Amino acid sequence: MKKIVLTAIIFAISFAGFAQNNKVMKTNSGAPVGDNQNSKTAGEYGPVLLEDIHLIEKLAAFDRERIPERVVHPRGTGASGYFEATKDMSAYTKAVLFSKAGMKTDLAVRFSTVIHGKGSPETARDPRGFAVKFYTEQGNYDIVGNNLPVFFIRDAMKFPDMVHSLKPSPVTNKQDPNRYFDFFSNIPEATNMITRLWTDLGIPKGYQYMNGSSVHGFKWINAEGKVTYVKYSWVTKQGEKNLTGEEAMKQQGMDWQHATVSLRKDIEDGNFPQWDLYVQMIQPEDLHSFDFWPLDATKDWPEDKIEKVKIGTMTLNQNPVNFFEQVESIAFSPGTLIPGVEPSEDKLLQGRLFSYFDTQRHRLGPNFQQLEINKPNEPPVNYNSDSWSSYGNKRFTNPDVNYQPSNKVNVAEDEQYKQSETTYENVTITQKKITKTNDFAQAGEFYRSLNKEEQDNLIKNLSGDLGQVTDKSIQMKMITYFYRADMDYGMRMAEALDFSREDFMK
Ligand code: HEM
Repeated sequence: MKKIVLTAIIFAISFAGFAQNNKVMKTNSGAPVGDNQNSKTAGEYGPVLLEDIHLIEKLAAFDRERIPERVVHPRGTGASGYFEATKDMSAYTKAVLFSKAGMKTDLAVRFSTVIHGKGSPETARDPRGFAVKFYTEQGNYDIVGNNLPVFFIRDAMKFPDMVHSLKPSPVTNKQDPNRYFDFFSNIPEATNMITRLWTDLGIPKGYQYMNGSSVHGFKWINAEGKVTYVKYSWVTKQGEKNLTGEEAMKQQGMDWQHATVSLRKDIEDGNFPQWDLYVQMIQPEDLHSFDFWPLDATKDWPEDKIEKVKIGTMTLNQNPVNFFEQVESIAFSPGTLIPGVEPSEDKLLQGRLFSYFDTQRHRLGPNFQQLEINKPNEPPVNYNSDSWSSYGNKRFTNPDVNYQPSNKVNVAEDEQYKQSETTYENVTITQKKITKTNDFAQAGEFYRSLNKEEQDNLIKNLSGDLGQVTDKSIQMKMITYFYRADMDYGMRMAEALDFSREDFMK
């Protein structure tokens, strides 16, 4: 009797195991599947038949499982949660999510490394991506930032070359300091970013322990059309924690996917990570009152001159249920904006406004905004239609009218959402570097703000990588940049790389 009961239980469990959710397996076209283990053959030992439609569909689906990885930031992980505003900022912006203290907005984030492939270690010295998509009632709004507040370059024209120099060599398929320092020795404005990236900030202990920044300034527009320039910062409530070079090496030997694992675990355990969102504001008439150009992405906005105002808190409380659909397929863009936020004139940002949507049409297809993770709360209302994977063709009261203007029916426009007007006096169309480059001052200030141990680690990390460069003239050029930032910094780097004063006199 006992044996019969046990057999029944085992049968029930195994049956439940096979028929997940008590559903019968079906093909993509909905037909029930009789056998998912054995191919259809000509006789027991004969060849497999092409008419086994289920087998062909299964192999074809598998063959197409991978999509192109992101051209930069391929390695990353994501989570969802919400943003709660703590201050009413409607005097400065119409952006609905910042309009009322206590207002909550759903969001999804993706944190990433930049340079190496989708399966690469999370212990690399690399900026970390910090991208947030807010699902507001006026459409999606993305802040696509990094963990560091500045960037290597100020003009989108240089981006593809910079990435080529940092990616593995097209000859050896290996990342090579000879290549990226060759590039950076011609980019003095990168000194500020390099100085930060080669401190321990370049290897965060985990994504929940890093801060974030929009890097660029954006324009906030209020209900009267008044413009305020803003820069965003995320401040981690877990405390900023990084790895030294040695700790990163040890971590890599134990588990090089630690950042993905630990974020997921914290959320699973209910230790929901949180960040406060701060904003800095500059009035348009004050833009020219600094010794740097605030819309130059190689510059930070100093906190002692431009106050940081806390405007809300982000909480991450949900892990992805399906990584491909919620993380691999998420598509951020600095151009995904809502009424109340517009791009600034920052030259690097202007290039990004084109690049993200363009790459996503290639990576995910022209209808990437229809994917569940990317679609806005309210369905779009416009006449864009068709192409690959379109399932969102809009149904209008008169579906035959898919154009505008029409004498029969029109989708309404609303004047209040017109873009702001900007008047530029005496504008000359030009193609040249900005005059106020101030390439070294902030790098020097940052160096002097570090404590002794942080400075020692910077010198060790940076001379470790720059020391691998075989062309001495590249090393010297880089050292002159560090020297111009701060004398002590330059001297210590020269010493660490075995240069004497005479070497620079030659
Ligand atoms: C002209 C300069 C830049 C260009 C052309 C550029 C281009 C790109 C491209 C093509 C992607 C892949 C997007 C995708 O496949 O979905 C990407 C990802 C990303 N970029 Fe940039 N980028 C630039 C500068 C920056 C800067 C300055 C930041 C930080 C403020 C940044 C942050 C990010 C982040 C966080 C991602 C990953 C987004 C995600 O998680 O899906 N990028 N970038």
